[in-house]
Amino acid sequence: DSGYFTFDPGFVSTASCESEITYIDGANGVLLHRGYPIDQLAEHSNYIEMGYLLLNGELPTEEQYREFDYHVRNHTMVHEQIANFFKGFRRDAHPMAVMCGVAGALSAFYHDNLDIDDPENREVSAIRLLAKMPTLASMCYKYNIGQPFMYPRNDLSYAENFLYMMFGNPCEPFEVNPVAAKAMDRIFMLHADHEQNASTSTVRLAGSTGANPFACISAGIAALWGPAHGGANEAVLTMLEEIGDESEENIQRYVDRAKDKDDPFRLMGFGHRVYRNFDPRAKVMKETCDEVLAELGTGNNAKLKIAKRLEQIALEDEYFIERKLYPNVDFYSGIILEALGIPTNMFTVIFAMSRTIGWISHWNEMIKNGVRIGRPRQLYKGYDKRDYPA
Ligand code: SDX
Repeated sequence: DSGYFTFDPGFVSTASCESEITYIDGANGVLLHRGYPIDQLAEHSNYIEMGYLLLNGELPTEEQYREFDYHVRNHTMVHEQIANFFKGFRRDAHPMAVMCGVAGALSAFYHDNLDIDDPENREVSAIRLLAKMPTLASMCYKYNIGQPFMYPRNDLSYAENFLYMMFGNPCEPFEVNPVAAKAMDRIFMLHADHEQNASTSTVRLAGSTGANPFACISAGIAALWGPAHGGANEAVLTMLEEIGDESEENIQRYVDRAKDKDDPFRLMGFGHRVYRNFDPRAKVMKETCDEVLAELGTGNNAKLKIAKRLEQIALEDEYFIERKLYPNVDFYSGIILEALGIPTNMFTVIFAMSRTIGWISHWNEMIKNGVRIGRPRQLYKGYDKRDYPA
């Protein structure tokens, strides 16, 4: 009987939990993590400090920061057997397909902390996941291009180490470009958490069964992969490539296609379920994009010009104004990642790496507060009872 349930497809007006981690005011374009505005964190903090904040609720003291950073740096290696998992994949496998597998496989290596009711076990899992995701991500890339896996370097910062494992090789010394490392760290921060988005909700639902945290994160990675969610950063670049030139008529043609309900084309990196105003992360991302491209000497980037013109044309169009559709976090991130030399098919992997701290913070909060298994109901639309033909 449908009368007993609230029917809310897409969970447009259902709060699935209580949380103290992230606050969004969609009408005014506000995003706060533990009370701190995202633009202030992006300017003054770093991903490790922000990770501590998301996980623990407060900014760390100097000593707490040193200790947290030390633990993350010292859990970066993955078990040697993990390399064998990669070898089972085709070289041209999409890195997100590989990530779903290898992140979930971590469950098999950490049977020492199965009691998730013990806060120390939960903390160790959080640190392991945070520390090992860049290693797994860079292994995906190295496997794809046929180069040897690079062991992490614990003397480097989180972002520096990731770039080193991505672009270094055993044959020659590698110097991390500080501009690239700063930009990378900012991208990590801007993606770190966003309350009950599809992938975080997936992690919570999986976690509500008492499943192992590594398995829950693997579920989150799978949910993030779709082009309507984290896969949008890859789709934006593909779209900008397809648009090809910045002429007004050409861009207008794509904007018109996005408005046409008979055409499946949508402006990727545009629109958001919660923001009916600018995504505050997109503002920071756009500024970062300008800064990074200028500093790397690629300020004349053709895709950036197309993106800016596209944004301008769309924001003046009645269709986008009426529906309050603005650029989201993914609109400019791909241009920065491309400028840093990251291949397009790794963009969503970088989103997954960045979001890991958000996922694990939500998982930790949920287990700490005590959770009831998630179990939505449905409106049954099938046959009434009928007899099997005897
Ligand atoms: C992320 O939830 C999160 O917090 C996610 C995220 C995070 O940090 O975790 O912020 C990350 O996933 C960002 C979103 C990335 N996705 C894209 O950029 C893909 C393109 N955008 C969309 O497909 C869409 O806007 C969504 C998926 C983001 C939101 O979907 P909703 O909330 O279901 O929006 P909707 O379908 O209700 O849209 C309302 C109207 C519709 O038109 P009408 O039927 O009313 O005429 O706006 C239209 C939509 O067709 N619309 C678009 C559009 N997005 C919405 N029209 C053209 N182009 C678009 N991009």
